Order: sequence, then structure tokens, then C-alpha cells
Amino acid sequence: MKNTCTVAIAILIGLISNTLPCAAQYAMTNVYGRDHILLNGKWNAVIDPYKHGHKILIYNDRPLKGKTDFKEYAWEGGLRLNVPSDWNSQQAELNYYEGTIWYARHFNVNKEFKGNLFLHFGAVNYRCTVYLNGVAVGSHEGGFTPFQIDITDKVSAGNNFLVVEANNTRSADAIPALHYDWWNYGGITRDVMLIRTPKVFIDNYFIQLDKEHSDLIRAEVKLSEKLAGKSITVEIPELRLKEQLLTDANGKAIATFKAKKLIRWSPKNPKLYQVRVSSGEDSVEEQIGFRNIQVEGTQIMLNGEPFFYKGISFHEEIASRKGRAYSQEDALLLLTEAKELGVNVIRLAHYPQNEYIIRQAEKMGILLWEEIPIWQGIDFTNEQTFEKAKNMYAEMVMRDRNRCALSFWGIANETAVSDVRNRFLKRIIEHCKSMDTTRLITAAFDNMKFNAETNTFELIDPLPAYLDFVSINKYMGWYMPWPTQPAKVHWNVAIDKPLVFSEFGCEAQYGQSGDPSIPGSWSEDYQEQLYRDNLAMFSQVPNLAGISPWILFDFRSPRRLHPVNQGCWNKKGLISDGGYRKKAWYVIRDYYNKH
Ligand code: GCU
Repeated sequence: MKNTCTVAIAILIGLISNTLPCAAQYAMTNVYGRDHILLNGKWNAVIDPYKHGHKILIYNDRPLKGKTDFKEYAWEGGLRLNVPSDWNSQQAELNYYEGTIWYARHFNVNKEFKGNLFLHFGAVNYRCTVYLNGVAVGSHEGGFTPFQIDITDKVSAGNNFLVVEANNTRSADAIPALHYDWWNYGGITRDVMLIRTPKVFIDNYFIQLDKEHSDLIRAEVKLSEKLAGKSITVEIPELRLKEQLLTDANGKAIATFKAKKLIRWSPKNPKLYQVRVSSGEDSVEEQIGFRNIQVEGTQIMLNGEPFFYKGISFHEEIASRKGRAYSQEDALLLLTEAKELGVNVIRLAHYPQNEYIIRQAEKMGILLWEEIPIWQGIDFTNEQTFEKAKNMYAEMVMRDRNRCALSFWGIANETAVSDVRNRFLKRIIEHCKSMDTTRLITAAFDNMKFNAETNTFELIDPLPAYLDFVSINKYMGWYMPWPTQPAKVHWNVAIDKPLVFSEFGCEAQYGQSGDPSIPGSWSEDYQEQLYRDNLAMFSQVPNLAGISPWILFDFRSPRRLHPVNQGCWNKKGLISDGGYRKKAWYVIRDYYNKH
């Protein structure tokens, strides 16, 4: 009989380890360029609205003990869900579901594997705990950024049982918080993979053009271990570059080197170079582009030339499937439509979208604005919420900072002025700049005040002082009637900085015709006229640096409750939920062709 005390301690450790999972880690750079296998496909699933599963589900199907034993649960024979994919679009009864769903699958590990083994999740919305062979090995909060869990010492040779407890319940201290204007798609919404690395591997690297110079490449590489004096090689064969770096006591190496005859990435020529980073047994490579993005006065400058921001936004959603976009094919569908409109920038609203979209946009020469969902109603008084925001930013920047298409970090969307909000966002800006100074930082404002005497919009807000350029969300002719002729509406906002109209537009039912002067017609004719009116207003803005209609596609939102004109869809799209271009689409396409 085992010593009772030993057994008790083992049970206690088991219980503690099951209840206090460690937070997951930032993902290593360029996971798709690593030695990996995808764990995508059909997983077993259990819908668990009362979160009852903790007691029973994290273990594999235990065998029955004798004829009187029985079980009230089983993984086999029940619900099967696709991974990656939101759960809402897979089962009718899950369309509105907010709660816990358990996922499970097996995977095998060969006994001889050497090095490290990591579980990597592209995203799980909104929070999750990961269990391996009945033990909690990691947890994560944030529905749109990747994370990894080192399972090197936790995995068994042969068969392993992986369980993910996913929960998408909204909460006031979360990011986003309780009320947002998009669908709350829950679950394992992006790729899951097993990544194998050597014992000492290249954990992360940041290789971009120096902010001010057109021929100076800056490389920062960090090993997984704090080992000094280790040699790292950065190669760009097409530029005949092969640089040797040495790590410091933190296992980190930084170098800058001249790149002769470098062709800078741009929408007209989205030039990418094969870059290889190697050290010891590890070597990772990918395509990286090099460009300069700066501000000069009221101009955004790309590669030293004035750049007019011809933008659009879209959510990470495929309307025909009523679900989250997650694949290479989905990325191509969304981006091809954006390219047809003639855009050169896409604002990935309102959260970091999947890596296929980022990398595909880069290949197509489209600049990107990326943001975390600090979207209205955030609890800026809550220090834990601040830590969540910091973590989400870090996960986003660490994933995408080698993507030259990524040109703008959005700090917040439509937040009201307050001391706590100002402090919270200033700290986020500092945090963002501590990780990456090569991009421009902006935020979207909707708190402008209209001065009826001068027909002028003004913005009384301390935040613009900390931004590279200012973005305005204003729905003239929709949430606010025109106070005068559109061309006579003036803007006196951040006039020493570039100004981008990051959201404007209105809803329209595809195929519905009506009086172009009546918003309540929900007609394409009204939407078309509203776009023409907004363009007339923009022509008067002295520091106009760009425009970006809201939004490319009609999208789903539980807030849009008009039974006839919305039906839980926000119909501001230039393209309908059925995939048809509305009249306003052509107004913007012609405007972009002329600018
Ligand atoms: C806001 C917000 C969007 C929202 C839009 C709208 O500006 O940023 O997320 O969908 O307005 O009201 O349609």
C-alpha cells in the first residue's frame, strides 16, 4: 500500500496543477516557416453551458471499472467540430451561443524526437485553458492573437490526449468588453499546430528597414536561451548579404547593415526578399519586404513619396458562410474584392486578423492598419484590463512586425476623453513604441464637436498629440444630418498632422431603390448620394491624407435589430451580404482610380 501521505501530495499537486494553468507564452516568430504539423480537422466537442466539464472531461475516456461502474459522459460518439472555425456557423443551435465548449483530440509523438515541442494556437476566442493528458498546461485570454505552450516535458511518447476548454462569454473587464458591433464568434478559430525546434532555437527576430534610411537594414535576433557569444547568420541572397552577429548575455544580437540596390516594397512593386536566419542547429526563412513609412507635416510618406491613403475596412468574416474567415482561400476572397475597389490600405477592423490575410495583403502590395479591439466601453480604470491590452498588443506586434505591409498601429476606436482613458492609452502607445518604432501610430476618434457658427468640426482631446496621424469616424448624413451643404462643412482637427477619415457611410439594402434625399429609404440611391456628399466634404479638408469607407462587406452584428432592413446584419457594406456590389461601390472605385 503506497504511503498515504505520498498519494495525498500527488493528488494535491495534480489538483493545483489542474486549477492554476500557467499563462501561455508569446508565439515564436514565423511559425509557418518552422518544422510543424497542423492539428486541424474534426475534433470531438462537448457543449457545456454550466461549465460542469471540469470534473470529468479533461481526462480521456476512462475504462469502466466492473459491471456496476458507468459514465455520464463520453468524448466519442458526440458532437464533432471543425478546427479551425468558429462554432457559431457549424451548428444552428450554436449561432448565438456564449459559454464553454470543450474540444478534444489525440495526437502521436514519436519516441525518438529530440529538441523541443510546442503547441501553437493561431487564436481561440475568447479565453481558454489547454490540458494535455489530464493536466492543465496553459491558459490564454484574447480572441485574436496567437500563443504557444511548451509541452516538451509534458508530452508522452506515443499517444497524447489534448483538450481545449474554450469560452467566449463577454465581460466588462475584457478587450473587447460587453457591447461591440460584430458577431461574437467563439472557439478555436485559427490553425492549431505542433512545432518542433532544436534544444536551442531562434525564438524571435525583427528584420526591417531603418525608419529613416532607405538602404540600412536593422536585424534583431533572439535565441530561446540566454547564451552569450553564439553566432547568428542573417542572409539575404538576392542582395548578396550574409551578416554574422554575436549574441549578448541575454541571447540577443542586434546589427544594422547597408543594403545596396535594395528595391523598396510598395503597392506598385510589392517586392519581397528571401531572408534566412540561422544559428547552431536552427534555421528559419521567409519572404520579407523593406519600405519606409513616415510623416512629413500633413503628409504620410511611403518610401519618401507623398502617399494618399485609399482605404477600406473589413471584418474577418465570410458573409456567405456566416462565419469567421480563417483560411488562405478566405484571405484571397476578401483581399481580391478590396483590390478590385482600388484600395492601397486595409484597416483590419477591429482586431488582429489571421496571418493568411496579413501575408497575402503583403504579396498584393496593400498596406495594413492593425489594432486590438479597444472599441468603445473599455474599463480604463481596471489595471488587469490594461495588462490584457498590453499583452494583446505584444502578441500582435511580435507576430506581425516583420510584415512590411503593416504600416499603421491603431491604438483605440471611439473612446471618450477621461483622465483614466488618457493615461491608459498613453501607456499603450509607449508600450507599442517600445516594441516597434518603424510604424505610424494612430487612433480613430468620434468625439468631435460641431461649431454651428463656423460650420466647423473641432476635436478637443489630448490624445492626438501622441499620434503620428489622426483618424476620424464620422457618419455625416446617417447618425448626424448634414448641418449645411457638404462642401461647406469644415474640419479644424489636428491641422498640423495628416488626417484620415477612417469611417464614414450608411446602411443600404442591396437592390432597394428610393429617394436619394431620405436616409430612411435604406436605399442604394441614398447610400450613393451620401458617398458623393462625403467626397465633396473631404475635398475641403486642408490636411486630408486619406479616406476609408465603412465598410467593404455587410457584416453580422447582434446589435442591428431592424427586422426588415438589418436582421442582425450591419448593412453599411459596399458589397451586400449576398456578395453584390452596391451603387456606392462604384463611387469609391472611380474616386480611387482618379487619385
Ligand atoms: C463605429 C464603429 C464600427 C461600427 C460603425 C457603425 O464607428 O467603429 O465598428 O460598426 O460605427 O455604426 O456601423
